[in-house]
Amino acid sequence: MCGIIGVVGSPDTLTTLLEGLQRLEYRGYDSAGIALVRAGQTWRVRTAAGTESVAALRLECEQAPAGFTSGIGHTRWATHGAPEAVNAHPHLDCSGNIAIIHNGIIENHTEIQERLEAKGHVFTSVTDSEVLAHLIEDSRASGLELMEAVRQSLLTVRGAFALAAMDATEPNVIVAARRISPLVVGTAPGVTYLASDVPAILDKATAFYAVNDDEIVRLGPEGFRAVDLDGAPVRLHQLSIDWDLETAEKGGHDDFMSKEIGEQPDAVRATLLDRRRRDGTITFDELRVSDEELRDVKRVVLVAAGTSHHAALVAKYAIERWARVSVEVDISSEYRYRDPIVEIGTLVIGVSQSGETIDTIQATREAQRRGARVVAISNIVDSSLAREADAVIYTRAGLEVSVASTKAFVAQVAALELFALRLAQLRGTLPEQDIDALFLGLNAVSGQIATTLERSAQVEHVARELIGARDFFFLGRHVGFPTSLEGALKLKELTYLHAEGYPAGELKHGPLALIEPGVVVVAVATDPAMHEKMMSNLAEVKARGASVVVVATDDDESVAAVADYVLRVPATEPMFTPMVDIVPLQLFAYKMARGLGRNVDRPRNLAKTVTVE
Ligand code: F6R
Repeated sequence: MCGIIGVVGSPDTLTTLLEGLQRLEYRGYDSAGIALVRAGQTWRVRTAAGTESVAALRLECEQAPAGFTSGIGHTRWATHGAPEAVNAHPHLDCSGNIAIIHNGIIENHTEIQERLEAKGHVFTSVTDSEVLAHLIEDSRASGLELMEAVRQSLLTVRGAFALAAMDATEPNVIVAARRISPLVVGTAPGVTYLASDVPAILDKATAFYAVNDDEIVRLGPEGFRAVDLDGAPVRLHQLSIDWDLETAEKGGHDDFMSKEIGEQPDAVRATLLDRRRRDGTITFDELRVSDEELRDVKRVVLVAAGTSHHAALVAKYAIERWARVSVEVDISSEYRYRDPIVEIGTLVIGVSQSGETIDTIQATREAQRRGARVVAISNIVDSSLAREADAVIYTRAGLEVSVASTKAFVAQVAALELFALRLAQLRGTLPEQDIDALFLGLNAVSGQIATTLERSAQVEHVARELIGARDFFFLGRHVGFPTSLEGALKLKELTYLHAEGYPAGELKHGPLALIEPGVVVVAVATDPAMHEKMMSNLAEVKARGASVVVVATDDDESVAAVADYVLRVPATEPMFTPMVDIVPLQLFAYKMARGLGRNVDRPRNLAKTVTVE
């Protein structure tokens, strides 16, 4: 989730780059850099000072030589390599003439790097992005123009990217390209701009154009032209943008929460990118626990708080089913005070979006004190949890601004389920063809979330009908249970209404006493194996007068017998359903909260990161 900006043809290039980077601040970043390019000279500066990186960059730029009219700038959100200046963008080729900035992940960077190193290229960072500078250098060496060199280079690249390249031997040109990661071009008389996000160039450009997947654009002061990966000319679609800066930062959405709900397909896709080698082995670059240790794990303990705890609960089902290791899940604030037993072979996984939640950090410290190996699942590179853990797997959901967690949840589930598959692979508890099928299924989830997001109108209708209700029970079985807990948490924190999540089987053991007309029961009933039991639970609540909302798959006709309202989702492998089924529940909480006039991004009494016990 890095930020990109580029300018060609402006006497104010440096100021435009610095201001643009500042405006990308809301996306979050840990380091920043710019390169100014003119005939025969590429001047680059990079800083890694967390959220102060752009301010530090501004200071460094006081030394910049005058007279540059073109340049590129980047704010980095680390994925490969620590957030240090040496890993910040722009990256240069061996000659120092070519500068590139990149947002996304180059999946096959290792093999490309090995090939280029064999040809004599020298790498200076621990990033996947640097291969782009050397690849382009390699293509340029055969006499190609920059645009053609970028196009040729991209034919060998797998993964996601928004990138921009400049070369001091072909000045006043930026060549940009995109696959998955967003990119826009802006124009004004005599100046052309490039950005990952409209806010960076909102006050500069007068017209905006979207770059589509696998399109390559050449920007000069006079304008731009674009081609597809085959080199055929393409026209960029002009965007009608009448946003103010605040709306632009929210990507045109009313609030960060709806923006982040909409980013969930990307959050899952990015989290899964680059995790499987050609021979089928599932890999995590940041996982510094040996294969032998993982194979010999005797028990897994997951510790987490709030939404992250719900993701951890999903992981219990996946790890136990696929890797046949017993799993315990603990609320992190409870773990350290209950004198936990840590035997040899205990692996503790701390799950946290922020990586700064004090309860989770204290729980993993306690586990380490007692001899456990600790793996962190964190959305923030080099967070406290990540630094203290023996190993870390990063979710790549990008900065989450809204207090209520949404995209981090789906990314955590994706990362944890992938980890479960890796454990199964190492322990030989699943045939390789089952792992293949599950891996394919996991990669299909992103599309299923996107399909579900397109159906927000069905949720709008239900939310409007139920806006006066005060009490909600969310029910599910198997992984539908943690999904229900998460659905209830979203509703209570956003609307301030009473909402509880229960395993549906617990209904008869108490909560059924509370069911009466006016109460709403929301059920997650997408798992065929649990369907019959769910239907009889729902018949019981319906008989007692509750309004029944059911999350059901497209092909489920029987649900009509018990449901007052059905929220349809595409069918997926049962273990993956939490990532899809949570979407209508998030939208339901969101739409109810909007209907009640609540501040969805900042619910009362809550903070995004809880750093006190
Ligand atoms: C709920 C929510 C919180 C967090 C919890 C843990 O929407 O956001 O429940 O999930 O405070 O935070 P992290 O994941 O940062 O440890």
